[in-house]
Amino acid sequence: MRPYDVIIIGAGAAGLMCAIEAGRRGRSVIVLEKADKPAKKIRISGGGRCNFTNLRLGPENYLSQNPHFSKSALMRYSPADFIARMETRGIKYHEKTLGQLFCDGSAQEVIDMLLGDCRDAGVSLQTGIAVQDITRHDGQFRLKTTMGNFFASSLVIATGGPSVPKMGATGYGYEIARQFGLSIIEPRAALVPFTFDGPQLSHMKAMAGLSADVEVKCGRKSFREALLFTHRGLSGPAILQISSYWSKGNIITVNFMPDLDVYNVLVEARSLHPARTPIHVLSESLPKRLAQFLCQDAHVTARLADLSNAKLRLLAGIVNEWRIQPTGTEGFRTAEVTLGGVDTSALSSKTFEVKSVPGLYFIGEVVDVTGQLGGYNFQWAWSSGHAAGQYV
Ligand code: FDA
Repeated sequence: MRPYDVIIIGAGAAGLMCAIEAGRRGRSVIVLEKADKPAKKIRISGGGRCNFTNLRLGPENYLSQNPHFSKSALMRYSPADFIARMETRGIKYHEKTLGQLFCDGSAQEVIDMLLGDCRDAGVSLQTGIAVQDITRHDGQFRLKTTMGNFFASSLVIATGGPSVPKMGATGYGYEIARQFGLSIIEPRAALVPFTFDGPQLSHMKAMAGLSADVEVKCGRKSFREALLFTHRGLSGPAILQISSYWSKGNIITVNFMPDLDVYNVLVEARSLHPARTPIHVLSESLPKRLAQFLCQDAHVTARLADLSNAKLRLLAGIVNEWRIQPTGTEGFRTAEVTLGGVDTSALSSKTFEVKSVPGLYFIGEVVDVTGQLGGYNFQWAWSSGHAAGQYV
């Protein structure tokens, strides 16, 4: 039996941050990681450059059954705090777009910083270990593992969500939550491409590889970013963002020319250049292939002079409000993040301790708090890990 003050399961962004903070407080800490290496998701994040936080962060950038739960931790450890940590280590970064901060070099710099801070704080890290059983007696958690037994008075679950199993992701955190009587908000793949089938897919496939700046809407939520046609459907930042607000059966609408009223553009073009086709007109603002695709979708290919107002209105409707119903999503295989997770009503928003089980904590993506695309998920991992690290 090896005694520690704190055992953390999962050496990802949240687990490592919590370990550093607890270690700095003089607590004896061990992090148990199932994979052969820590922080695999950080390594692949942001195309290898890790979009580690966002300058424009607010509660509206997070989804949860309880939209207030994340506020306290995000305020107590903010993007500015993480940026200061990076600057202290001399890690260079830049803003790419919409407040998103990326490393100039590689995501490995963030991992090295966290592992260096763990070492300095006296944190032990064990990789390649599987936890087989957890019990709690007299305020102590006892863990049976493939490398012997461990016990501690504080147990932190930082195992993330089930998105991208290839990177070590599991639903193990939910099993532990259920064991201790906590509810789980149904986990769903989020920040994930849409798939289509049948004639809709065959039609779209011809566009694979093409991207466009669009406004995409689902219900009352909208995002203005790039959309990418793929061989299986739609992807790109605009689609990933809206996927978090989409449920099976919902229609999404895409505005391919969000700055223009296309009907007015077409009517004006008809009076000025009646011999032109609508493909011609739309190609002034859109890639020609996309203009052809939209005109085919509306069955409108004649010269403008031969098109009635009703036909122009039909085409304009498709360009400004292309309505589609995805068949599904690519699922956890490629989802950047998981919606849902451990119900926050069971947790303290100050300490992340389970109200009914003293000494048990849940942090990071395993909790029902999900960020939008753009560094918000790592900031949640840093903030929740930092908060719990002050109390474990
Ligand atoms: P995380 O998943 O990072 O860590 C959990 C750890 O627990 C893993 O190391 C896992 O192996 C381990 N584990 C799981 N089960 C275990 C068990 N049974 N026993 C022991 N260990 C176990 N976000 C962002 O803000 N900016 C970005 O640029 C990106 N980019 C990005 C790209 C891709 C491809 C993906 C898949 C995801 C992103 N994300 C992102 C999301 C971000 O990676 C994610 O939200 C955080 O890593 C979550 O941090 P956690 O520490 O909670 O879980």
